[in-house]
Parts: sequence; structure tokens; C-alpha cells
Amino acid sequence: MSPFRITRTLPEDATGAALRADALHGLTGTPKTLPPKWFYDARGSELFDEITRLPEYYPTRAEREILIARARDIAATTGARTLVELGSGSSDKTRHLLEELTDLATYVPVDVSESALRGAADALLAEHPALDIHAMVTDFTSAFELPETPGPRLVAFLGGTIGNLLPDERAAFLTAVRGLLEPGDFFLLGTDLVKDEATLVAAYDDAAGVTAAFNKNVLAVMDRELGADFDPGAFEHVALWNADDEWIEMRLRSARAQTVKLTALDLEVEFAAGEEVRTEVSAKFRQEGVKAELHEVGLELAHWWTDSEGRFALSLSQASDERR
Ligand code: SAH
Ligand code: TRP
Repeated sequence: MSPFRITRTLPEDATGAALRADALHGLTGTPKTLPPKWFYDARGSELFDEITRLPEYYPTRAEREILIARARDIAATTGARTLVELGSGSSDKTRHLLEELTDLATYVPVDVSESALRGAADALLAEHPALDIHAMVTDFTSAFELPETPGPRLVAFLGGTIGNLLPDERAAFLTAVRGLLEPGDFFLLGTDLVKDEATLVAAYDDAAGVTAAFNKNVLAVMDRELGADFDPGAFEHVALWNADDEWIEMRLRSARAQTVKLTALDLEVEFAAGEEVRTEVSAKFRQEGVKAELHEVGLELAHWWTDSEGRFALSLSQASDERR
């Protein structure tokens, strides 16, 4: 088995510095916020994996159904020799693509979670011993460069993770994705679709409480990394549908008035009883909107595939000659 390579563009300490900056900015603003990438320490990555198996969390199953049905089309259309996957996590669904991408030489999984990348690479190498795996511990919202790899290139961004970016972050992100591609290269994007509120809310507030534990894990990350004294038991998980913005909002609601100390920031934060911290949005999409946002950055929609129940979409777009 060939060992995989791992590149870290996040310097060991950048994680700490960025977390301190985000926590300071987010917890001293009004309303209070915490950015989502801090959910995914080793424990958070495990909890997310558990979420993907919950009966209420349909996106993973729906996207897997589409990938299984369309992997062969994707391989034929793209002829990809390099697959770059942003926010690859466990790379579990990616195996359906790898099975069909017969010309593939290199797989570049990109994630902030080093533990997830290592686990994924070990599992994939067992099945594809000849595959060149070049893992990158990188924040995909920061400017980064890919290793020199053979084209054509296919960049994949699955799981509906694009919905976790706010609209202006999303536009900047898509522009950066276009910058990773040569004209003719492809972008494969998974987007969860607008649907009835009950289905959406249940997916983010499951009966077993796994999503609640995942949401509260960000507090444990701050306790550990920033010497904070958040008591996760003193916060409640909230998931609500914002119909105007068409996104799910995840919040943590302070069960009582409390003061939290963050030693590493030399900061004390006051929470009123019932005060909420916004931790994550998960935007839901429509075909016209996705097509327009892609076109805006020089990506032309070539295919739009949904699962049999029309809950989730996978789109394949191609970089045009014109760079926006
Ligand atoms: N693609 C997988 C995992 C989705 S969960 C799936 O479809 O199931 C989102 C993944 O994105 C997690 O693995 C998380 O660690 C990663 N992630 C979140 N924010 C990130 C960022 N800013 N940069 C890089 N990876 C990020
Ligand atoms: N990309 C996933 C989504 O938006 C992430 C996610 C699922 C998530 N459940 C969550 C993030 C709960 C925060 C809290 O569907």
C-alpha cells in the first residue's frame, strides 16, 4: 500500500490563532455568533458521521443515491485525471465516484479535520492501492493552491456544505473554485433543496439528540482550546427554518443568565437567560439560483440531477473560457 501525502497549509498554530480571533469577534458582537468550521475536531467529525446515519438526516442518503446513479455519466463527461474534494470528511460517498473514474491518477481531499483526512485516506488506499492521494489540511475559505496534478480536473463539493456559507462568503468561495479550474474543467456540487419545513427542521433537530450534541461540541472545543468554562448543559440546541433567507439556522440558547470565562482571551462573556448564539446556517437551494450563482463566476451548468424524491441535487458545471 502506497502511503498518502499530507500537506498542511493551516500552520499548526493558525488553528489556535484563528479560533481565538473568531471567538473574540463572534462572542463580543451582537448577536453573538460562532463560525461553523470549529465544529469539526475529532469528536465533531465523529458526531457528523453519526448524523449522516440518522433516519431524519436525508441529505446523505439522497446524495448517495444520485452519485450511485450518475457516477458513470460523471466519469464519461469529465474524463477526470485529478479529483479535488473540498470538505471531504470521511470521503465515504466519494468511493462511488472513484469506482467509475477509471482515468483518475490523483485524489486531493481537502479538509480542516486532519483526523478525518487520515481516516479517509487509510480506508481509500485499502480499496485503491495505486491511487495517488494527496491530502490537504486546509481551510477552503482561505486562498490556497493545489499541488501540480494532471488535468482534466474535477473539483467536488458534496454534502450540501456550500449551504453553510453565508451568501457573500459563498460568492467569494465560488470565485475561488473557478480559480482552481482551467477552461473545460468541471465542478460537481451537492446542494440540498428547499422543501417543507417539517422535513427540514427534523433533519437538524433529530429525536436522538445527535445534532444537539454536535452543535454543543463547539462549546467543548472552546473549553479545551481556549480554556473556557462553557457548561454545554446550560445551553439548548435550537434549529429553525428562516423562510425569507431559505436557510436553517442553528443556535445555542443560554438556559439561564450566566457568565463564561475564556482564559486564553482574557475575556468574560455575559449571557442573558434565553440569549442565543448563532452557530450555523444551512441554506437550501433551487435550480435557478444555483445556475445563476455558478454562471456569475464563469461556471456553466451542464447537468442537474436530483434523487428520486426531489430532495437533493447534484450539479455538474464546466469552467467556461471566460474568467469572471
Ligand atoms: N463531504 C462529506 C462531509 C460533509 S461535513 C459529506 O458529504 O458527508 C463538512 C466537512 O467540511 C467536514 O469534514 C468539515 O471538517 C469540513 N469543513 C468545514 N468547514 C471547512 C473549511 N472552512 N475548510 C475546510 N474544511 C471544512
Ligand atoms: N453540511 C451539513 C448540512 O448543512 C452540516 C450539518 C448537518 C450541520 N447537521 C448540522 C452543521 C448540525 C451544524 C449543525 O446539512
